[in-house]
Amino acid sequence: MAKKARKKTKKATKRKTVKKTSKTTAKKSAPKKAATRSTNQSVTLIDHANDREYVMPVMSGSIGPDVIDVRRLYGDMGYFTYDPGYTSTGSCESAITYIDGEEGILQYRGYPIQDLAEKSDYMESCYLLLYGELPTKSEKAKFVHDITYHSMLHEQINNFYRGFRRDAHPMAIVCGVVGALSAFYHDSIDISNPHDRLVASYRMVAKMPTIAAWAYKYSQGQPFIYPRNDLDYASNFLNMMFATPCEEYEINPTIAKAMDLILMLHADHEQNASASTVRIAGSSGANPFACMAAGVASLWGPAHGGANEAVLNMLTEIGEPKNIKKFIQKVKDPKDPTRLMGFGHRVYKNYDPRARIMMKTCHDVLKELGIKNEPFLDIAMELENIALSEDYFIERKLYPNVDFYSGIIFRAIGIPTSMFTVLFAVARTVGWIAQWNEMIEDPHQKIGRPRQLYTGEVDRKYVPINRR
Ligand code: ACO
Repeated sequence: MAKKARKKTKKATKRKTVKKTSKTTAKKSAPKKAATRSTNQSVTLIDHANDREYVMPVMSGSIGPDVIDVRRLYGDMGYFTYDPGYTSTGSCESAITYIDGEEGILQYRGYPIQDLAEKSDYMESCYLLLYGELPTKSEKAKFVHDITYHSMLHEQINNFYRGFRRDAHPMAIVCGVVGALSAFYHDSIDISNPHDRLVASYRMVAKMPTIAAWAYKYSQGQPFIYPRNDLDYASNFLNMMFATPCEEYEINPTIAKAMDLILMLHADHEQNASASTVRIAGSSGANPFACMAAGVASLWGPAHGGANEAVLNMLTEIGEPKNIKKFIQKVKDPKDPTRLMGFGHRVYKNYDPRARIMMKTCHDVLKELGIKNEPFLDIAMELENIALSEDYFIERKLYPNVDFYSGIIFRAIGIPTSMFTVLFAVARTVGWIAQWNEMIEDPHQKIGRPRQLYTGEVDRKYVPINRR
């Protein structure tokens, strides 16, 4: 009999010593990952049915729970693992974003989101996510310049918009147009070539605001406003949304700053549904723009990026603070499918750190715009108070997530509800592309291909149609 499995009683979340990547190397080429280490630890699986044991190695990252390496399990034991929704499954190694859901920690490349929110900006965070290091002054200037000068769309792309109905959901349009970019940049991309991948990455980040704003303009029947190279990323987006050929849009720096911050808070979130979708799509070697379109599709759902739109719809449905109690009863009723949108998260079992920043920004924006009685904010704050004190939510560790307050900010800025998730897609593009790049560079990368527990019919005899 093999030795008894060594029992790990608590999550291995303590920091481990890892070799630091040299700054210059990381900047010149692809970001270096802190190497995964095989520990001396192992976990033993006892197979009672066949009276045997199987020792599986344990691997350690730089921080966070250790993982059991099950890669050889099927080959050696003939078993698959079963984990719908991947609640306990690590799908890859990654050095981009770290989340500790119990503690409410979020870091991009090791930098806490609170520090970045206070001291950095979206462009700098994009560079950080893509390259692994904060840029120097000149690197940042060049990056901003290069992104700015890739923001125009091929003129032929205008025609795609005209194929959509005017009342199409903007996420449908964005999904289609992003996918269509693959028809413009296919033969020019060799995904094994780092330079080609970088150009594709810049194109994606640069063109997303234009694609998004034009989806809105199309729905309004207004002419497209072209990007302006004298504006920063967030201001340029606002200008393309709200300027018309007849009237300039006056950019309010507080609003532009809030928009920049919102983009930064949504930039990446490790292996979420849309990032995993991008990775799986890309794992077959598909065109990166087509992979991004897959990410947009995955983000759209109300359980993911569509939650910001769903929160506003929920607040509209509640209408007045006096209806909150009744609504909470519905949420708590196990027979009623109603959920408190903008609450709960697969990973955060504590306050989402982005939600705190978002709440403060919400107050700042409303103050700047002179909005004193925003009924939706009153309802949201009361909902939050009730939810944070009721057993139903406490027991399930349900806290506000990033989308709980973002919709109120967007509404105050004048962005229509149907565009909320589009904005999330603009922000998250850099995360998707960073995850895609990391996957392509990963020497352990394989096509994403989960297994299943088959529960259907077996070995049936075909019955000709005239005898069924
Ligand atoms: N309102 C009410 N109850 C909830 C909520 C909610 N928002 N979220 C989870 N629960 C309850 C579930 O009913 C379940 O209760 P039960 O144990 O009695 O059956 C329990 O909490 C666990 O919920 P799961 O759905 O199993 O948790 P999961 O991790 O799969 O779901 C999710 C996470 C999808 C985010 C969920 O909390 C949810 O639907 N939230 C609302 C939508 C939302 O805000 N999504 C945005 C997420 S953040 C982002 O993508 C940007």
